[in-house]
Amino acid sequence: MAFSRPLVSSMLLVCLLFSFSDAREILVGGKTDAWKVPSSESESLNRWAGASRFQIGDSLVWKYDANKDSVLQVTKEAYASCNVSSPIAEYKDGNTKIVLDRSGPFYFISGANGHCEKGQKLIVVALSPRSGFISFSPAASPSEIEAPAVAPTSSATSLKGGLMVVLASLVVGMVLF
Ligand SMILES: *[C@@H]1O[C@H](CO)[C@@H](O)[C@H](O)[C@H]1NC(C)=O
Repeated sequence: MAFSRPLVSSMLLVCLLFSFSDAREILVGGKTDAWKVPSSESESLNRWAGASRFQIGDSLVWKYDANKDSVLQVTKEAYASCNVSSPIAEYKDGNTKIVLDRSGPFYFISGANGHCEKGQKLIVVALSPRSGFISFSPAASPSEIEAPAVAPTSSATSLKGGLMVVLASLVVGMVLF
């Protein structure tokens, strides 16, 4: 084996560090038919988002009928005015996955005619895993975000995945040593 002990040890350490922030895929609204005009305030996606916790590296997944709807990532201004004319990105494949690649707010609206005006819109705030707190840029003060502040929820699933990786790393380490 050409590996030196320090090298293997640092590789294990890196595995350990990353295993606790493993990225998740999060289904928007928590179910497959959630990307639609909400029939009541309690069905609003921002209410769902406010009760969820999003971290950098997590992916949002939308499931919808590609013939009837789409997902537009837009600026804060376009979100507020439901302006669908020049989105940052447009997705209409019915199975859209977007990685939250930075901290801060992400704004999404429906591209279907009139849907955004009827409340089919979503703000997701990605947290930096290290701080665990929202670091708002001056352009986005908490009062401008419709969704309530993100409540810390259990990250048991992610922790369990992390432990599996730790165990796997230890086994690999024992074999190599
Ligand atoms: C929508 O956004 C585009 C591009 O930013 C802008 O040119 C247009 O005037 C906006 N439309 C409305 C109705 O605000």
